[in-house]
Amino acid sequence: MTAARKAAEAAGKAVQEEVRRWGGMKQTGVSLRYMMEFGSRPTDRNLLLSAQFLHKELPIRIARRAIELESLPFGLSEKPAVLKVRDWYLDSFRDLRSFPEIKGNGDELAFTKMIKMIKVRHNNVVPAMALGVQQLKKDLNPKVARSDLEEIHEFLDRFYMSRIGIRMLIGQHVALHDLNPEPGCIGQINTKMSPIAVAHAASEDARFICMRQYGCAPDVTIYGDPDFTFPYVPSHLHLMVFELVKNSLRAVQERYMNSDKDAPPVRIIVADGIEDVTIKISDEGGGIPRSGLPKIFTYLYSTAKDPVDEDSNTGSSIIMAGYGCGLPISRLYARYFGGDLQIISMEGYGTDAYLHLSRLGDSQEPLP
Ligand SMILES: Nc1ncnc2c1ncn2[C@@H]1O[C@H](COP(=O)(O)OP(=O)(O)OP(=O)(O)O)[C@@H](O)[C@H]1O
Ligand SMILES: [Mg+2]
Repeated sequence: MTAARKAAEAAGKAVQEEVRRWGGMKQTGVSLRYMMEFGSRPTDRNLLLSAQFLHKELPIRIARRAIELESLPFGLSEKPAVLKVRDWYLDSFRDLRSFPEIKGNGDELAFTKMIKMIKVRHNNVVPAMALGVQQLKKDLNPKVARSDLEEIHEFLDRFYMSRIGIRMLIGQHVALHDLNPEPGCIGQINTKMSPIAVAHAASEDARFICMRQYGCAPDVTIYGDPDFTFPYVPSHLHLMVFELVKNSLRAVQERYMNSDKDAPPVRIIVADGIEDVTIKISDEGGGIPRSGLPKIFTYLYSTAKDPVDEDSNTGSSIIMAGYGCGLPISRLYARYFGGDLQIISMEGYGTDAYLHLSRLGDSQEPLP
């Protein structure tokens, strides 16, 4: 063995050991309310404290994921797409650990720049993992029971939940540097978010994709008080409503495509309760058979064509449906701030999705 190779191997071992050490440390969660209170005073001192917290917290969270990525069942860890994801996690861990102690505001700015880059590096984790899972699904004996895949499903739930938290923390720290925030906004949190306005924008985005795919799109009508607002992260709500409306539009479109009847609109109802804000998305797209219901929240189930087979969709372009992760990921976003997502179907008629968002903002981040 050459000296260079020996040195490289020793360095690799040292990183491995450090990942193990950090992966064993305790994670610290924060709540929406805490982020809001802390972020309402983005002074230099607070930004420094926030950076120092992230300098310690992010490597712990990232190390846990890197460790888990190496021990997945059925050889999922060895799939090229998954190896790529693992390398992103290791690179980010190294970047964070090699960054010296943050002492002043100059260090803080450099650190912020670095974590912004880390966030970009991990942009495509979901499609990359979905690709890995699709590759695995192809090699697996179709007789492998669904209960065996449960382990993969649970891993992905933990993995994506953790990713939501990491991205929220980085995004929030970066956004607090904005010198001219929109009125009412504290970082990524809008203290006066109108769920109707967000639902409207997300529905229009979903209709645009539907239009592109099918040439037309059913209407979406929204009911509720347009003046009602509450504190939430608009980008999260946008993502969830976008996924749910996309599913509804697809179901309605497929059902009415060759019919001479007009496609019925998708209806969104926003209700403001004391504990929860609930958003119901109802369609008349024919529903989901009861036997399919247990599968819809898994990452391996989609009734859409396999997107990996289509050259035009390499995972980066948005399509109506494909990987089967729209619902499980939306539910994670809802749960991240203490909410939930339920799907009720009437086969032969349509589907209702109930998206519950916790108004209190006190729930701690779930930390897998
Ligand atoms: N409103 C709905 N009406 C009928 N079927 C639905 C509805 N919502 C979801 N489904 C069924 O549940 C499956 C899983 O939905 P999910 O959004 O998780 O994945 P997908 O839409 O197939 O792919 P993507 O990852 O692009 O969202 C869908 O393929 C579809 O069969
Ligand atoms: Mg979907």
